[in-house]
Amino acid sequence: MLSHFVCLILAILTLPFIVPPSSEPDDVINIDMSSSLRKWYDNGHIINIYQQKIFYIHFKSLLPSNKTFLLVHGFPTSSYDFHRVIDTLLRHGDVIAHDHVGFGFSSKPQNFTYSLSELAEHTMELWRRLNVTSSKRDIHVIAHDMGDSVVCEMLARLSRDQLPDIYRDFFKSITFTNGGMIISKANLRIGQILLSNPIFGSYFTLLSNRLRVAKRFTRRQLASIFSPQCDASLVDDVIDDIMTTNRVNNGDLMFHKLIYYLSDRRNFEFRWFPALANPSIKMRLLWGDSDAVAPLEIATGIQSLSSGQIELTVLKGVGHFGMLEQPELWTEEVLKIL
Ligand SMILES: *[C@@H]1O[C@H](CO)[C@@H](O)[C@H](O)[C@H]1NC(C)=O
Ligand SMILES: *[C@@H]1O[C@H](CO)[C@@H](O)[C@H](O)[C@H]1NC(C)=O
Ligand SMILES: *[C@@H]1O[C@H](CO)[C@@H](O)[C@H](O)[C@H]1NC(C)=O
Repeated sequence: MLSHFVCLILAILTLPFIVPPSSEPDDVINIDMSSSLRKWYDNGHIINIYQQKIFYIHFKSLLPSNKTFLLVHGFPTSSYDFHRVIDTLLRHGDVIAHDHVGFGFSSKPQNFTYSLSELAEHTMELWRRLNVTSSKRDIHVIAHDMGDSVVCEMLARLSRDQLPDIYRDFFKSITFTNGGMIISKANLRIGQILLSNPIFGSYFTLLSNRLRVAKRFTRRQLASIFSPQCDASLVDDVIDDIMTTNRVNNGDLMFHKLIYYLSDRRNFEFRWFPALANPSIKMRLLWGDSDAVAPLEIATGIQSLSSGQIELTVLKGVGHFGMLEQPELWTEEVLKIL
């Protein structure tokens, strides 16, 4: 009996090494993308930031405006999360969105420390290189999920006067949307927990790359953070696109590295909280209350941390990806800060 059990465990452990890697292409030119994702890619550019290729997309407003929106995406997704809100935002200002190193169409190096500090530095250097400046434009940042923490790192440095001069009086407003800003209140998905295991994380990454059943599991994990009210075919299409962007440049072999931000969130919370407790900039929380991973308690927790100085707007019945689920409602609320 025991030997059967041992054999079973061994079989499970060795399975991902025996199943050959999928022969599907992973380069942007040959990968099979939905037309909407392909259009997003075609609108973008690549710029070298600290030896990494960063994909970004810079839309110019069609109407005269002095506003620029900087969009900061989360895990495990990309700037494409925002594709359904671009047209509305463009009626009010320019929009710049980029893919963090390791995500979307940016470089996905194996030898890279996927820490929130790195992502923050690459992001700020990108904005500097794109000549984003507050001297002629009002800069509004909108962050989501892991992007909230990337921006928190910037704010911690700003509050200590550790940022380059161009970041003085740079942010006109910051909007945080559904993210795990208080990690103890986040309901991490089982996939996140497995991947962040220091010993088995790489094994689970391999498993999810090789096995069809593991891919179905990834789909279900992603689907679980949409609001149950959300249209099922929309969720399906969105998840297809997320899984496609993750495959670009072998990104799906990197999840155990990309998940590193979770440890940063734990380790740096107390570094970030003071900047949120005494905001020197107009900040706001915009939260879907039907989010299984980043529940509303996180938003109310941050709001009380700031003694109510950070306003909270709740989007009822909206899940983790408000900008995908309810783009009109989401932008309507985003624009109220202007
Ligand atoms: C990453 O670093 C390791 C050890 O430093 C090295 O052996 C390996 O060739 C590097 N891989 C790449 C892709 O640069
Ligand atoms: C930023 O400004 C510099 C100097 O004016 C210019 O050479 C460069 O092309 C600009 N970059 C972009 C992306 O507009
Ligand atoms: C942008 O325009 C608004 C309204 O006209 C004005 O209050 C603001 O100072 C302008 N911002 C910059 C950076 O010029």
